[in-house]
Amino acid sequence: MSEAKAAKTILAVDTSTDMLACAVGHMDEQGVEVLATGDHLCRRHANEELVDTCANVLERAGLARGDVDAVLAGRGPGSFTGVRIGIATAKGLACGLECPLYGTSTLDAVAWTAWSAGVRGLVGVVADAMRREVYPGLYQVGEAGPVRLFEVESVVKTPAAVEAWAQRTDHDQIWLTGDGLKKYRAQFEAAGFSRFVDEGAWHPTGEGLLRAAAASGVAFGKSDAAVDSGDPALVLPVYTRLSDAEENEAKRLGLAEPATVATTGCDDALADRHLQLRPMNVNDPVAVAALEAEVFAPSNHTPWSERLFSDDLAEPGHIWWVAHDEGTIVGYAGAVVAGSEVQISNVAVVESRRREGIAARLLARVTYDGQMLGAATSVLEVEADNSAAQALYAKLGYVECGRRPNYYGQGHDALIMQAELPLVTPSRHDTPDPHASLRPWPIVAEKRGDDVASAIAAAAPLVLAIESSCDETAMAIIDGLGAIVSSVVATSIDFHARFGGVVPEIASRKHVEALVGVYEETMAQAGAHFGTGTLVPADLAAVGVTQGPGLVGALVVGIAFAKGLAGAADLPLIGVDHLEGHLFANLFETPDLRPPFVASLVSGGHTMLVHVRDWGSYEVLGETIDDAVGEAFDKVAKALGLGYPGGPVISRLAEKGNRKAIHFPRAMMHSGDYSFSLSGLKTSVITYINNESRAGRPINLPDLAASFEAAVIDVQVAKAAEAVERTGVSDFCVGGGVAANPQLREAYKRKFGRMGVRVTVPPLTACTDNAAMIALVAKRKYDLGEFATLRMDADPNMSL
Ligand code: KG4
Ligand code: ZN
Repeated sequence: MSEAKAAKTILAVDTSTDMLACAVGHMDEQGVEVLATGDHLCRRHANEELVDTCANVLERAGLARGDVDAVLAGRGPGSFTGVRIGIATAKGLACGLECPLYGTSTLDAVAWTAWSAGVRGLVGVVADAMRREVYPGLYQVGEAGPVRLFEVESVVKTPAAVEAWAQRTDHDQIWLTGDGLKKYRAQFEAAGFSRFVDEGAWHPTGEGLLRAAAASGVAFGKSDAAVDSGDPALVLPVYTRLSDAEENEAKRLGLAEPATVATTGCDDALADRHLQLRPMNVNDPVAVAALEAEVFAPSNHTPWSERLFSDDLAEPGHIWWVAHDEGTIVGYAGAVVAGSEVQISNVAVVESRRREGIAARLLARVTYDGQMLGAATSVLEVEADNSAAQALYAKLGYVECGRRPNYYGQGHDALIMQAELPLVTPSRHDTPDPHASLRPWPIVAEKRGDDVASAIAAAAPLVLAIESSCDETAMAIIDGLGAIVSSVVATSIDFHARFGGVVPEIASRKHVEALVGVYEETMAQAGAHFGTGTLVPADLAAVGVTQGPGLVGALVVGIAFAKGLAGAADLPLIGVDHLEGHLFANLFETPDLRPPFVASLVSGGHTMLVHVRDWGSYEVLGETIDDAVGEAFDKVAKALGLGYPGGPVISRLAEKGNRKAIHFPRAMMHSGDYSFSLSGLKTSVITYINNESRAGRPINLPDLAASFEAAVIDVQVAKAAEAVERTGVSDFCVGGGVAANPQLREAYKRKFGRMGVRVTVPPLTACTDNAAMIALVAKRKYDLGEFATLRMDADPNMSL
């Protein structure tokens, strides 16, 4: 039918292992012609070297950036951070080049590397998974290339991997390769394996990536899977396991010890939210079975018993989530991961809460966990005559793929429906769930009229800023006059809440999932600002990104994306200090704010007083010697079972409480310096809670919250006033998440009002992490010509 398509020029990258694999080649349906490679071992320096290596490889191939038709990324499995650096960079490259992004398995690339080295026969790839585990993959390698003898990537204990292959009668024929052999070669030898591929070929190579992709035909539309569509939003790491926090939670929730299992999650009423999702725990089956009986009474489905739910919950690879409203379970969904498939075992929502999208959200959660465990598709059974349910599933992407006659009793067939992962959930740029781009990729900008073109030109230079230091993936664009033309924040807070704090691994994963959607939305909102569909990279003058301080694994994702984008679109890069961003956020409230002034930075990670002598010239007057203020709020809230984050809940409670009800210590109030200490306060609040509970006295939450807050605020205000007096400034500012606290804001205004000092507090949305504040700093650095090189890496301990 269709003729063979012309060769494409593809740039391939993989940083899942110690090897920085990079190559550019021509690919057509017959195969691959490698034009240049930049493979080299770069242990832990991939983020520094990758973008430069890409530029170098293109140059040596005699190619310009614009010659690249598509980018290809190794999706792992491998080092989580390493995989994320490669994929985030590749996403940035694809966005900057406005071209498709494809993904390929790193294990396949290693198998193809063995093929290139002339190895034929059975090949076992043993990739290092750290913690005495490996990602094994067995291939039959013929002249035409490797063929997988396994369905899906998995992680296994090394002895189990050795054992599994040793049991094969042909195990002495297996050629072993992969970076796992650096640690485990002896274990394989002891089990009788004797054929080892030359050590120089144990890592993936750029050529191996290109060949693996050519064999799968992804770049030529040979795969119908959405993940192979070229949409960079859908190219995600292959992890094969959940984060440790989630894995441990799954084990804990499955334990048959109801009394010791606390219900996790925010207190809904206090958080002012009325629907929450969390994994099912052993306390739930009673309520879930009751709901099951109610929901399925009129149907032909035999309701599951409480016992069945309890037993199933404890099974490894079984995933259960519930939706609850103020503790009352209103829906649940469960699934089993089998190979590359997530099989939905059950989903139900109470009658009175239908049509709120609860079932869709539950299914999104269970299939998401399944996807992280390696699944690519999901299947379910539905009654053939239940058209309402079928319509719901169809919206999520499930299509009928079979029928089981009489499955629900004589005359009641089941339809089998299957969907690709991720499910098609309502596209929301503010929640970092994996989903396809909002528009078909690559995005084609609409034709611009002269008025639009001149408006954009008049607003130059436009700087894009990126923030990913904690649990918010945010981007914003600032114009030449310093006005924010778009600002988008996707927070992963819902995914951390039940753990009582930000889980770094989850934050890092969510950043990778959110990047492309947030980028697209930021460019589109800026386009709308100028009266067109979207901006394109050529409209930008520079890319700014938070360099630190923050969580290193989270920072590197934003930085890798920023560098890929900057490298691909030939834009200068600007590194921004996150704390400087919090300081600059005050300009949103007081545009004529000018140094010198004193600022207090109070967030989940920082508590400091800063003397801003000039923009860019900061003297840190003092910091906390232990916990940060936000951390104290979060820990107290956790101790009270109020969920995460604690700040907003505690401040809402405090509004109704008596701040003098309980006396808590004001540590270092009169220490004569600007140091803070909050761990003593936290401890005395927790001691108070324990004592009252032991004595059987009910705790007055509003009084406790108000008294705790008062202790915090008194110290903050006293030290800030001292700093303002001693430095003789006439302006005082705040920044950071805790600056959103209304009582703290009021206390500053009262105190400084009496002193004749002007107080600036940023708008609430600019207190918590966002990219608009990063854009303000980036713009200033742009004007000063302070650029970073494309070797810039995260600096998690950066200080002002
Ligand atoms: O700046 P931020 O968004 O993230 C970093 O830590 O960098 O700050 C988050 C912190 C959390 O600890 C949260 O509990 C606290 O800010 N927070 C508040 C309030 N809103 C957020 N603390 C007190 N009162 C609030 N209203
Ligand atoms: Zn912050």
